[in-house]
Amino acid sequence: MNTSQTPREILELLDQYVVGQQRAKRAVAVAMRNRWRRRQLDPALAQDVYPKNILLIGPTGVGKTEIARRLAALARAPFVKVEASKYSEVGYHGRDVESMVRDLMEAAVALVRQEHAERVREQARTAADERLLANLAAARGLDDIWETSITDEEIWRPRPGSLLGVEEESQPEGGDEDDDEQAELHAQREELRQQLAAGELDDEEIEIELLDRGLSALTIMGPQGTEAMGIDTSALQEAWGRSPMVRTKLRKLTVAAARDLLVSEEADKLVDNDAIAQDARDRAENDGIVFLDEIDKVIGAGKTDGPDVSREGVQRDLLPIVEGCAVYTKYGHVRTDHILFIAAGAFHFHKPSELIPELQGRFPVRVALQPLTEADFVRILTEPRNSLVRQYQALFATEGVTLEFSVDGIERLAAIAFRANKVTQNIGARRLMTILEKCLEDLSFSASEQAGAKVLVDAALVERNLGETADDADLIPYDM
Ligand SMILES: Nc1ncnc2c1ncn2[C@@H]1O[C@H](COP(=O)(O)OP(=O)(O)OP(=O)(O)O)[C@@H](O)[C@H]1O
Ligand SMILES: [Mg+2]
Repeated sequence: MNTSQTPREILELLDQYVVGQQRAKRAVAVAMRNRWRRRQLDPALAQDVYPKNILLIGPTGVGKTEIARRLAALARAPFVKVEASKYSEVGYHGRDVESMVRDLMEAAVALVRQEHAERVREQARTAADERLLANLAAARGLDDIWETSITDEEIWRPRPGSLLGVEEESQPEGGDEDDDEQAELHAQREELRQQLAAGELDDEEIEIELLDRGLSALTIMGPQGTEAMGIDTSALQEAWGRSPMVRTKLRKLTVAAARDLLVSEEADKLVDNDAIAQDARDRAENDGIVFLDEIDKVIGAGKTDGPDVSREGVQRDLLPIVEGCAVYTKYGHVRTDHILFIAAGAFHFHKPSELIPELQGRFPVRVALQPLTEADFVRILTEPRNSLVRQYQALFATEGVTLEFSVDGIERLAAIAFRANKVTQNIGARRLMTILEKCLEDLSFSASEQAGAKVLVDAALVERNLGETADDADLIPYDM
């Protein structure tokens, strides 16, 4: 499991996506490893080892959220990212802030369910193929009730013979003819099975009965979700005898698409939900990570009325959660004592010291992220595994257009982005998106008609497309 990675290994993985910000990446890598270290301890001691929560401080668009996103992807630990600011709008009812723990628990359940499903994958796949085969056979008139290999899922149909009290239906008087027919059916069915296995039927459209997982009417009751209102929809549904799991729906799909759905349906049947809930709770409590973004937005200006009061209220509500309390979820109580909290904020208008003191004390590890340099921009454009340059190349490739970037082209883009950040608002690396989009605007429009073309994005092209406008604040969408 990935939680056993060393800090250095975690750092190397983060390096593939986030440029610079070494100190922040090291801090989260160490925090991750500490979870694993704690797991190795004697439970009596482990109980007293609390996570060292982290506060990431840095200007906008320098990678705070990006670090958290990447960490989540590689952690294989339950992870949620929440915006602290969103809790202020509702007021300072404890329940709102607690929903982050419920979300974490949901994330844990999803993660553990996936792991459990992985274990029964082969079995689920076999069952799914069996259902597909039955469906395809029926559509071809090969629906053979003597040979059907699965029975419990299917509607029981009387055998023609059994109605007449004849026991051995495959040996009626005119045996030979029937046997031939039987063998023929069998052969055709086997051929079908092989075609299915070879993926030859993947594009064929079928009609198949699947569980209806559509949202129930109950889940649209409140904007915060019903759970924020203290209502457990699934419990209600069960009480009303309308569990969402039992309704089915006839759907038209390709074989390939149906297979995916059938595999997950069959996997759901094979896993043990109680075991999942139990595992998930353990994982949420001991490995869970909550990323509290925009923490600086819950700092008030020190006024005693208006939204500031509620902001401080949010901070007070956060306290017990960060400190350690039990939160009720539909899977039972989840304790928050050992959940790792990583908070982040730009702290443009407020300092971390303006957080209420009790909360400050709960974030012992402070890391400042550095503003990005022009050289960083060059690296951000090209180095990350899903860098903007790679994204555009892949997007254009779908149209058959080859997009190449020369070194001077990249440098020019970085320089323009850097300058735009200076003369207008500094939005960090997000500026690169705006600049690159603008630079390739016309090409993006015409690419569909240029299959086979090769485009080199060099300094001259960048200059041509952006040269005069890049300094013009009006032309840069200010919300980017
Ligand atoms: N250090 C970096 N390495 C690679 N990409 C980066 C880096 N910093 C920012 N980016 C890019 O810029 C985008 C915005 O960065 P991010 O969301 O991390 O900003 P932030 O620091 O959380 O800012 P804010 O305070 O506004 O939330 C990211 O999606 C990523 O593509
Ligand atoms: Mg952010």
